[in-house]
Amino acid sequence: MASKFLRPLVFRRASSAIMDLLENMGKKENWDRFYEKRRDSEQLKHFEWFFGFDAVHNLILSCLRSQSPPESLRLVLDLGCGTSALGPSIYQHSPWPVQVTCVDISPVAVRLMQEHWKSSRVQGKHPSSSLCFLEMDGAELHNLFGLRSLDMIVDKGTMDSLLRSREGPAKAEKVFKQCLRALCPSGSLLQFSDEDPDVRLLWLEQHSRGLKTGVQVQEVGVIGGVCYYCYLISP
Ligand SMILES: C[S@@+](CC[C@H](N)C(=O)[O-])C[C@H]1O[C@@H](n2cnc3c(N)ncnc32)[C@H](O)[C@@H]1O
Repeated sequence: MASKFLRPLVFRRASSAIMDLLENMGKKENWDRFYEKRRDSEQLKHFEWFFGFDAVHNLILSCLRSQSPPESLRLVLDLGCGTSALGPSIYQHSPWPVQVTCVDISPVAVRLMQEHWKSSRVQGKHPSSSLCFLEMDGAELHNLFGLRSLDMIVDKGTMDSLLRSREGPAKAEKVFKQCLRALCPSGSLLQFSDEDPDVRLLWLEQHSRGLKTGVQVQEVGVIGGVCYYCYLISP
């Protein structure tokens, strides 16, 4: 049974296809079907799990600011980007140079984003910033990102969906380890989630044992009666 915590606001009155997705969010095929339904419209309408960039832009920009000297390029990963505008918004709004890579296991979501952004005239705020979309399993980040190479990883709903899917918890652990491996010592992993801190903090602490990893939590806010959190993990 899907718990009330899994559901983004728009799913409160869920169809059976959506219920299938909610009950097995670790399956690539389910995500492909979900995003396929968004393909028909001429103009891609970004779909946001939980909330959009506006709700967290201060948090993200303050993390980016503190990470490196102003003119250094910051490498940012949006893990499980779906068709969210989060990664593109970081590219658009960061006054510091960023190289934003948005990855998702669903080729459908990635293609929709590539097509949309290829024809878009939106530019990064910093002239050296860049944005790209790639199909990738978060458990295989090592194929693209070197050890300690990333300054920031944002994950909005992706770890949640892995932890709550039938075959997910083991996969969630692999993805989390890959994130910690890829983050540089001053880097941050930001997990946006509706999971209660009593549960998520315990999981994060258990799975980063021995890695000298700091974990903090802060409330993003209450939307539609559900409280959302940002778990900030730093190596
Ligand atoms: C809850 S949705 C969140 C999407 C997006 N971040 C947002 O805020 O709208 C979870 C996303 O994670 C992707 N995903 C699931 N397992 C993944 C994996 N192993 N590696 C990369 N992406 C994955 C799904 O395809 C889906 O797009």
